[in-house]
Amino acid sequence: MDIIIRRTPDEVGAYAADCIEPFARQGATIGLATGSTPNPTYKELIRRHREEGLSFANCKAFLLDEYYGLPRDHEQSYYSTIRREFTGSIDIPDAAVASPNGEAEDPHSAAASYDHAIRHAGGVDIQILGIGANGHIAFNEPTSSLRSRTRLIDLHPRTIEDNARFFDSADEVPRQALSQGIGTILEARHLVLIATGPAKANAVQALVEGPLSASCPASALQLHNAATVVVDESAAELLSDAETYKDFDPYWR
Ligand code: PGA
Repeated sequence: MDIIIRRTPDEVGAYAADCIEPFARQGATIGLATGSTPNPTYKELIRRHREEGLSFANCKAFLLDEYYGLPRDHEQSYYSTIRREFTGSIDIPDAAVASPNGEAEDPHSAAASYDHAIRHAGGVDIQILGIGANGHIAFNEPTSSLRSRTRLIDLHPRTIEDNARFFDSADEVPRQALSQGIGTILEARHLVLIATGPAKANAVQALVEGPLSASCPASALQLHNAATVVVDESAAELLSDAETYKDFDPYWR
């Protein structure tokens, strides 16, 4: 893993945007994450699109996950969120932005179709990831199999609590989601996990310095050959050996 520590969330976003830009230029397939953490990255990519002509016209995108049972046009569905926060402000064709079907009658076959669609598109070239305070990636909660595939997941009470800020109350947060599995995520050719703020410090420490364990789903990044973890100083504050991590650009940049 490459560990990159930057001073602020905006600097983290600029670094992550630097990682994604060459893939956009190649018309790659980009894996997108929702949540607050990637927003500075998306803002920077939108700026480069508007001011520097960075085009995503030949790209495809796959979202990591989607609430199950929330209509696609609900403002908090991830289908709507990614359009509002990112893809609606760049030139990627709307039909090229895929997400799991959270309205499917049969969630199990919707999950299998999603894995199939990713493979059919040739796989994800670069995947952006956030991390939950409990170490989850996408909606893979602690105890998720490290080889899991896209599937229906019951959300952890902590995740429901964390996401309640986007809804009028915790009661309105859907209880289930369709999420790419850890095995699915590990098939992406490059991973860029971003984390900012002190609330993520424990999870970042477990991801970077803890054992490989389903108790911290993000620790599965230790198995990947091109995973970059980009954190700000407050998310890095519990790393016991931060000063020795090489702040080198990853080999693939
Ligand atoms: P956040 O969510 O970026 O809103 O903190 C990250 C996650 O739960 O994966």
